[in-house]
Amino acid sequence: MYFLGIDTSTTSSKALLINDSGEVIAVASSPHTLQTPKPLWSEQDPLEWWEAVSASIRSVLEKAGISGERIAAVGLTGQMHGLVLLDEAGNVLRPAILWNDQRTQSQCDEIHQIIGKEKFIRITGNIALTGFTAPKILWVKENEPEVYAKAKHVLLPKDYIRYKLTGEYAMDKADGAGTVLFDLKLRDWSDEVLSALEIPRTWMPKTFEGTEFTGHVTAEAASLTGLKIGTPVAAGGGDQAAGAVGVGAVEPGIVGLTVGTSGVVFATTPLALIEPEGRLHAFCHAVPGMWHFMGVMLSAAGSLQWYRDTLAPDISFDDLLNEAEAIPAGSEGLQFLPYLSGERTPHPDPLARGAFIGLTLRHSRAHMTRAVLEGVAFGLKDSFMLIQNAGLDTITQVRASGGGTKGALWRQILASVLEVELVTVNTTEGGAYGAALLAGVGAGVWPDVASACKACVKLTGSTLPDPKQMDVYRRSYKVFQGLYPH
Ligand code: XUL
Repeated sequence: MYFLGIDTSTTSSKALLINDSGEVIAVASSPHTLQTPKPLWSEQDPLEWWEAVSASIRSVLEKAGISGERIAAVGLTGQMHGLVLLDEAGNVLRPAILWNDQRTQSQCDEIHQIIGKEKFIRITGNIALTGFTAPKILWVKENEPEVYAKAKHVLLPKDYIRYKLTGEYAMDKADGAGTVLFDLKLRDWSDEVLSALEIPRTWMPKTFEGTEFTGHVTAEAASLTGLKIGTPVAAGGGDQAAGAVGVGAVEPGIVGLTVGTSGVVFATTPLALIEPEGRLHAFCHAVPGMWHFMGVMLSAAGSLQWYRDTLAPDISFDDLLNEAEAIPAGSEGLQFLPYLSGERTPHPDPLARGAFIGLTLRHSRAHMTRAVLEGVAFGLKDSFMLIQNAGLDTITQVRASGGGTKGALWRQILASVLEVELVTVNTTEGGAYGAALLAGVGAGVWPDVASACKACVKLTGSTLPDPKQMDVYRRSYKVFQGLYPH
């Protein structure tokens, strides 16, 4: 039996094929283009996603040399929060407005004003951020009334793919919560928030737990993709929730840490816990009946990339990191603030800015490199502290993924700063792998998500905190914490 995980990310659509032991058989992907028609805008054409998904499915089947008949179920994941608006007949009304679009600050303020910030946090678990879906709907209402007048369906990117595959309007609860139109505890649409924002309830699709089947592949989709008519499609989850499943971060205490361009700290919670000021995102998990906290740093490995491209373009990352290894922990007093693209957690502030602080003649390039690695680790520790203070005080293991955790030096700094064991795992395909596991659970291969992860996700390495570094980093972190407020 085989399962397919489909990830519609910002850069591409990927199809990943696994067998019923969780082994990756083949992967294929097709790129997307991104449009920025105005400053702060970020849009994509949903039909381009569908073409990329169809091409990737055909290609992955061909690579694996198997017929679509043998795919037992499909699971979906993708970029979160993007607004796809459809008319009555299911036609796309305007380009999708993506998670990294920044045009909606005044709609966010409006939402807080209409509902009250505290109440909004109490219901949805979150504050309204420009990236989220709800303010985008209001933006269309205010700026494109002719589009809004024709709207009948709201979907997220991966759910548009679901619609094209199955003809059903449906959404998983993890991604649903990321619209901030959800009642977090109820795990479904909040009538109170929808009616306060005058968004018709009928526009919102039915929502499902991550492992539930939401529909079946139609004849038309089958002829375009090579899948069998009637193949079940599981709800899946947004990229972060499905990615957490992919590395086995599915129970409280095991935290997922992704150090890619952005940095994400993902902590499973058994209840709908909320950070009282909304500084952490609080969404439903793709694991049925579970929730999660999430801290998002906008420039994590992106900070190192910027630093190297700008100040040391002729030197390889390996050489830069090797020289930084010789510098003592704490970079002899040099600090780096990683807010190069503003920040989300713990400072939801698009105007936050990066900085090197404390430069002296003593400091070399190697100090600066090490300070970047440490500054990013401190910023991620901010999310850890918020998660611990909000009620999840026993973090026993961190499962690290993303390009930034490939090198031993950054892993050691992270383990010592976060004061927890950092492990790496054998599953490196991110959300697509998690989506495929969710489909496998839906089909009954594994009894639940935790069992699927136990069977398929294996530890490949471990880094423990270094007690000497921990002492230094506690002191440096105190200084770091004081810098943003100043
Ligand atoms: C999470 C988020 C990103 C996007 C990017 O809140 O905005 O992970 O989903 O793919």
